[in-house]
Amino acid sequence: MHAAVTAVPFLDLTEEYGELESEWLASIRETGAKGSFILGPNVSAFEQEAASYIGTRHAVAVANGTDALVLSLRALGIGPGDEVVTTPFTFFASAEAISLVGATPVFADIRADSFNIDADSVRERVTGKTRAILPVHIFGHPAQMDAIMAVAGEHELAVIEDCAQAFGATAGGARVGNIGDTGCFSFYPTKVLGCYGDGGMITTNSSEIAEHLRKLRNHGATRPFIHDEIGANSRLDEIQAALLRMKLRRLDEAIAGRRKVAAEYTRRLAGSAVTPPSMPVEDIHVFNLYTVRTGERERLRGWLGDNGVGTSLCYPQGLHLQEVYRSLGYREGDLPVAEQATRETLSLPIYPGMPPSHIDRVCELVLGPEAG
Ligand SMILES: Cc1ncc(COP(=O)(O)O)c(C=O)c1O
Repeated sequence: MHAAVTAVPFLDLTEEYGELESEWLASIRETGAKGSFILGPNVSAFEQEAASYIGTRHAVAVANGTDALVLSLRALGIGPGDEVVTTPFTFFASAEAISLVGATPVFADIRADSFNIDADSVRERVTGKTRAILPVHIFGHPAQMDAIMAVAGEHELAVIEDCAQAFGATAGGARVGNIGDTGCFSFYPTKVLGCYGDGGMITTNSSEIAEHLRKLRNHGATRPFIHDEIGANSRLDEIQAALLRMKLRRLDEAIAGRRKVAAEYTRRLAGSAVTPPSMPVEDIHVFNLYTVRTGERERLRGWLGDNGVGTSLCYPQGLHLQEVYRSLGYREGDLPVAEQATRETLSLPIYPGMPPSHIDRVCELVLGPEAG
């Protein structure tokens, strides 16, 4: 007889859902009774509450995080012929958004410690065509915003923060999304602030950009049925906004829960065969993902998987080497720090309220003799 294996899911939202269900269902009923389903009172209230949390003058809710990036780029006037410098070590959408507006992504290398874009590498890639820098606060770790803003200042570039994984993180004391020209958030269910469907948001301190974004998200309409530019259908619905309002009220607790799991992993895995992620000293890392580095990644992943532990490869291929970007001419070896990260990183289970027995099980397996 074998002892029962403790399965450890990579992410489990069921407990959280259970806690929110009755309140959310009541708000869905209320929305149904009012008959206002899109861009209604919950969306407006959420925009105000989210802007106040991030510290910006404006927040504009949109349909998803990819649209947040695309519409930001458009509101900043970036399009064909322009270059935008970004990181190759991110989810595809960060670069895809640049391509979707007809501009060209230019990939800079990353820092080995935080996996975030390296400001010196950004500086080396600025050309006469560069219009913007698009840093990503990867895994919830704030990017080096002071150095990035300095490069942007030297060359008069816009800065679009991809905050999809980092709601609530801080850089230099400010919340991410309140540093560049715009901050772009995703509310995909796995995110630090996630809804139960798709959703996104753009933050900005510019009234002009906010007004333009409100028009762009609604087909470029200046008023009903009157359009002065091509926009998009990118609106948040009421039932997601109602949920996001509920979750925003509990967000600090959720972030504290993630940080507690991360601190526990880091304490127990110190000195093992895996390198825990770096933790900024004065800023807040919100640990959307807890990503370790190991020279034996495939072996560790197989061992954890065989023992019922879910993991994720974030990210197994640099965006500069993706087939779709072959025409940009990058070769293996061009961005060595990012490429090494794509070979060595493994994301372990993390979410607020992860049971201590699951943390124990992951640590026991990672520290076990067969982990590598
Ligand atoms: C870094 C990053 N940027 C952009 C996105 C796109 O967000 P969405 O899936 O809401 O379009 C995501 C997540 O999915 C992401 O992780």
